[in-house]
This record gives sequence, structure tokens and C-alpha cells, in this order.
Amino acid sequence: MLSEKARPIIEATAPVVAERIPYITPEFYKGMFGARPDLMDGMFSRSNQITGEQPKALAGSIVAFATWLLQHPDSYPESVLSRIAHKHASLGLQEDEYPTVYQHLFAAIGADLGDAATPEVVEAWTEVYWLMAHALIAMEKTLYAGAASDLPFAPWRVTAKEMTGGDVAVITFEPADGTPITDAKPGQYISIEVKVKDGIRQPRQFTLIPSKAGTRRIAVKLDPAGEVTPLIHEQLKVGDVYDLSNPYGDMVLRETRVPLVLASAGIGVTPMLALLEALVERESEREVIVLHADRNSSSWPLADEMKALVAKLPNARIETWFEEGDDGDHKGYMDLSQVNIPADANVVMCGPLPFLKAVRSQVVSSGHPAEKVFYEIFGPDLWLLQGTDEN
Ligand code: FAD
Ligand code: HEM
Repeated sequence: MLSEKARPIIEATAPVVAERIPYITPEFYKGMFGARPDLMDGMFSRSNQITGEQPKALAGSIVAFATWLLQHPDSYPESVLSRIAHKHASLGLQEDEYPTVYQHLFAAIGADLGDAATPEVVEAWTEVYWLMAHALIAMEKTLYAGAASDLPFAPWRVTAKEMTGGDVAVITFEPADGTPITDAKPGQYISIEVKVKDGIRQPRQFTLIPSKAGTRRIAVKLDPAGEVTPLIHEQLKVGDVYDLSNPYGDMVLRETRVPLVLASAGIGVTPMLALLEALVERESEREVIVLHADRNSSSWPLADEMKALVAKLPNARIETWFEEGDDGDHKGYMDLSQVNIPADANVVMCGPLPFLKAVRSQVVSSGHPAEKVFYEIFGPDLWLLQGTDEN
């Protein structure tokens, strides 16, 4: 809980700090990577630094956390913390790195705010930082304790690589040593470490899709402007060994019998495949409405696999939206006014951010409760910053 001393200071300064985030974050990261270049090798995504998304997400989430504490003095924004903790755990982040971020973040805040960064202001924001850090550290410890192995990463060997529609490579791995395997919950992802051109390792997250017991399978969409997926597409081959993390992620199948709506676009099919497979394994009789949007029928990744899973569920159906061609159920972008969403349904979405925003606002503006809408974003979650109440 925020102290009585800190509360009015945070109230008075949160708008200023929020406004200065875009100026504070570049300095914070410049200082941190200047002092600790090793953090760019195997921990931070270099591209998310270049695009500025991750620095904004990290610093912005602290302001969002402070705002939450002002409005809800007795609780924490659990879903926001959980998403961050799972991401951290998938990178093997350890408690002893928290002072590093504190030191460089607060040096940048001090430099940016100048005289406005009085000792009282710094003390109040320090309190917020450590409240959040300790909440994250506690969650991360619980996540690590739940893994089958203490090692955050283990070597896995590529046993198959196939190309599918939509410029997607499907890759299967088997363990390359005897490290105990942590079972994945349906919907979870792993981080893979890939050595890039200048020799550093870059981690990226990929959702686990259905695979035989004891193996891991991922579907990787080529981003021609990206650093890692072109290497996975062009260079990764059967027999190669890569380090994969234990599985993490909190957008998993919830234990409930309410109807389920799965809305995906493009490579956003991956968590849906995992959720559908779990429902098939449980012989679920839940009503499941699978909605998929894509450019056309051949760019839909793993379409046959998705259709086959839907066909195995007694109360599931699928509807498609294609921008091109007439072989979908609907033409153009996904439009949920064309679908009858059961009032008690959980809605799970995955796809590019504009798709998620459009679909979420269609669902919520139709009167569906916002807390029954769940999503996975394939990048730093800048949505976290838009008022934690909303998520
Ligand atoms: P990056 O190097 O990360 O680049 C991304 C973008 O950054 C580029 O398109 C470009 O716009 C910009 N950029 C990069 N370098 C520069 C530069 N030098 N200058 C200017 N701009 C630049 N992906 C899947 O395909 N399948 C999945 O199942 C999947 N699951 C995911 C699950 C989670 C939880 C998360 C967080 C992500 C998931 N992703 C998935 C996305 C994946 O992790 C990668 O982000 C994605 O594949 C792009 O990686 P990349 O290294 O090729 O691109
Ligand atoms: C990711 C917040 C501490 C390393 C993130 C994200 C947020 C965040 C919001 C993005 C999550 C997402 O949407 O995917 C915080 C906060 C911290 C903290 C509030 C302290 C209170 C740290 C520390 C380190 C670290 C100490 C390591 C030195 C990372 C990395 C990522 C990440 C590597 C993924 C980045 C990427 O892929 O670009 N963190 N973090 N974080 N964080 Fe933290």
C-alpha cells in the first residue's frame, strides 16, 4: 500500500511524469545499456528498443501502477502484473537485476525533471517502484517454483520444419539433453534465443501449438523487416539446437463451462489452436465459436489443423472473414455485429493490435462485459498503459 506521505505527491506528479515518459525512457535505456551492454545479449529485444515500444511499456506501466494505487489503495492490478511477470520469467529475469533498472530509470527521471525532482518526489516514486518490483519479484518466484527445472532455458533440437500458408514456418523441437520438461498450459509461449548477425543472442516469444508429448511446436510468421524471423525462416534447419525457455503466459484456458468465442487474425491462430486442442482432449461440450480473419483463404496459417480441431468438438463452429476472394463466410474485416455472441461467453482474441482494438470495441460496445474479454498481444503491451481498469 502507498504511504500517506507518498500519496499526495504521486497524485500531484503522476500527470507530469506520464507526460515526460517519452523523453525519460530514451535516456534511461541509453544509460542502462551503456553501463550493462550484456543486457542486450539474450535478455532485451533490440528491435523493441529501436521502435521504442518496450521502454514505453516498462516506464509507462509504473505510472499506470501508481495511478491504480491512487484509485484502489487496497489492491494491485493483478492482470497487468501477471502479464509482465510471465514475460520476465520467460526471459529468466532474476531479482538482482531490479536495482539496475531502478538506478538508471531514476537517473533519467532526475535529469529530465531537473529541479522538480525534489528529494520528496524521488522518495515517493521510489516507493512506487519498489512496491511494483516486489509484487513482480514475488510472482516471478512463484512461476519459477512451478517449473520442472531451475534452469530458465534448456537446449532443444529441431526435428521438423515445414512451410505453411501465410509465410509461416512450423517448427518441431525435441529435448537435446535431460533437463526435466515443464508441461505447458494451453495458450502459453516459450522464448527462443537466436544468435543474430553480430553474434549476440536475441530472444523472441512464440506460442506453443499442439504437438506430441515431450516435444514443442511453434509457428513462426516471417517479418521481412524483423531481426529474428528471417533467420528462423532462412537458416534454422533440422538437427540444429536452440535454447528454449520454460513455458509461460497467462492467457490460458479457463476452467469454466461458459461459451467460448475465439477471435483471431493472421498468425493470431496459434493460441487458438492450443486452446482448441485442449478442449478436444477434454471432450468438451462447451459452445465454441471460432472466428478468423485473414487476407485470403491461402494466407490463413494452419487452416486445415484449425478446421480439423473444430470438427472434433460437438458444439463448435467456425466463421471466416477474408479481405480478398469469395471463399470465406464474410468479405472484408471481421465484424462482430454479424455474429450472435452468447451473453455469458468468454471472448479470447489474438492478432495485430488494430484488429484487437477493433474487435474489443465491437464486443464491449455491444454491451458485453469488458472483464470477459481476454487477449494476447504479440509484442510489448502498450494497452497496459491505457488505464488498467479497461483491461
Ligand atoms: P523484430 O526484430 O522484433 O522486429 C519487429 C519490427 O520492429 C519490424 O517489423 C520493424 O517494423 C521493427 N524493426 C526491427 N528492426 C528495426 C530497425 N533496425 N529499424 C527500424 N525498425 C525496426 N509470432 C509468431 O509468428 N507466432 C507466434 O505464435 C507468436 N507468439 C507470440 C507470443 C507472445 C506472447 C509474444 C510477445 C509474441 C509472439 N510472437 C509470435 C511474435 C514474435 O515474438 C516476434 O515478435 C515476431 O515474430 C517478430 O520477430 P522478429 O525478430 O522477426 O522481428
Ligand atoms: C518486459 C515492466 C523490471 C527486463 C516488460 C514489460 C513491462 C515491464 C511493462 C512489457 C511486458 C509485455 O507487455 O510484454 C517492468 C517493471 C519493472 C521491470 C515495471 C520494475 C518494477 C525489469 C528488469 C529487467 C527487465 C529489472 C532486467 C534488467 C525486461 C525485458 C522485457 C521486459 C527483457 C521484455 C522486453 C522485450 O522483449 O523487449 N517489463 N519491468 N524488466 N522487461 Fe521489465
